[in-house]
Amino acid sequence: MIKLPPLPYAYEALEPVVSSETLHVHHDKHHAKYVDVANQLISEKGLEGKSLEEIIAHAEAAGERKLFNNAAQAWNHAFFWESMTPDYRAPDAELARLIEEAFGDLANLREKFVETGANHFASGWAWLVVENGKLAVTDTHDAGTHATSDSVPLLVCDVWEHAYYIDYRQDRKTFLERWFDEVANWSFAAEQLAAARGQGAVWRFDDAA
Ligand code: FE2
Repeated sequence: MIKLPPLPYAYEALEPVVSSETLHVHHDKHHAKYVDVANQLISEKGLEGKSLEEIIAHAEAAGERKLFNNAAQAWNHAFFWESMTPDYRAPDAELARLIEEAFGDLANLREKFVETGANHFASGWAWLVVENGKLAVTDTHDAGTHATSDSVPLLVCDVWEHAYYIDYRQDRKTFLERWFDEVANWSFAAEQLAAARGQGAVWRFDDAA
């Protein structure tokens, strides 16, 4: 069974980029529902005791769509909360070096990330990942996840309408721009990058959160 992790900051900590109202609805209602439904299915299928990553991999391999959707959404949202911080700091020297190598500079990465998220059709996620030692921007549809992929996720932004509609109405692009400029958690991204290189452990869903 899995538990809904608490937000790693106060509900109002990310204002005005993400409002307290949005975080209450997004975390307490949407994320909680994915965790509840995943637990119901985990119990029905006798998968108690497995990690959420193992459950996602199992559901994907077995084509168990409903389990995959709810389990992956439980994981993606927990990773999304970590991808934001009230204490914005620019990418460190090592990340800056990889950003330069892959995109030229931070402004180009921003453009690519915002464009990818804003142009993503319907619900999904915009990611910054490291694959084969290089940074890349990707998007996944619906509950699509990098929880079980070969590439290691560094950051993710939720582009489902429920992530921004209260604060930005239909303007997903402005949400993404402000998210990237003001709350993206580059310290977390740096930890993930180090882990991808074998220094420390990559982030895992805390089943006993
Ligand atoms: Fe969401």
